[in-house]
Amino acid sequence: MTLLQPHFPRLIASASEMRTWSADAKREGKRIALVPTMGALHEGHLALVAEASKHADQVVASIFVNPTQFGPNEDFDAYPRTLDSDRELLARDGFCDVVFAPSVADMYPLGENLTWVTVDSMGDHLCGATRPGHFRGVTTVVSRLFAITSPDVAVFGMKDAQQFFILNRMTQEMGFGTRLVGLPTVREADGLALSSRNRYLTSAERAAAPLLNRLLNEASEMVEKVGQLDAHVLVDHVVRGLKDEPACTIDYVQLVDTETLQPLESLIRGSRVLLALAAFFGKARLIDNVIIDVA
Ligand code: PAF
Repeated sequence: MTLLQPHFPRLIASASEMRTWSADAKREGKRIALVPTMGALHEGHLALVAEASKHADQVVASIFVNPTQFGPNEDFDAYPRTLDSDRELLARDGFCDVVFAPSVADMYPLGENLTWVTVDSMGDHLCGATRPGHFRGVTTVVSRLFAITSPDVAVFGMKDAQQFFILNRMTQEMGFGTRLVGLPTVREADGLALSSRNRYLTSAERAAAPLLNRLLNEASEMVEKVGQLDAHVLVDHVVRGLKDEPACTIDYVQLVDTETLQPLESLIRGSRVLLALAAFFGKARLIDNVIIDVA
């Protein structure tokens, strides 16, 4: 009997080794795909890695819990760090060639960070309004990951739709030469979006949380089936449904244009809009969204 050996990705723990690996791969004519993550991997991340393997010869998954994208009262210290089990999961599917797990000193070499990459205005609303500085931390760390790994393609999940649209803008304007791919949100059978933070949910909160996806879908159907174009009516529908759930505390519900990420009063036919929310279930802050093509 032949036992299949899991394909353990190579672990690279320093920026200099990563640069050398990428330069060698490029010299050999290999295309590199990067999947940036903060670890605590789940099936949603594995789907990103599998997607990445369709676009390149070599897949790098970075695992770095980035301090600059957490606010002072957020869960940076508590954020799960599970490098060994993350590598095992990646080995299971075999699509990942390298895990890049740099230290904080690798990503922020001079200690206090003075150089930031920011994308104006697109981070003002949605998660940006209640997490000041969050997207500045994300764009800064992702631009450094791009500089170190030189990816041809980078794959992100659309659960973080605001993050995707901001990074896409950054990538085009900075001329990184990297193409971004956004993969639809991976969900549990009951619609709950997969998230590393779902592990914070109690069983009662877990049972209530699929409400997020259900309400967003209902609002989307109000546009598609009934022709509802009033943004306030759509947002109110979701807000009322969330308020009816005692386990849930709303952070925000907002409807924005996908190009500018600015709030809309009404939907214009032919446009594409993003209805997004964040809500607390106990100590878990969950986000979800739906993208609606307004026919
Ligand atoms: O989406 C995430 O996990 C993070 O924001 C990212 C893109 C890895 C940057 O730290």
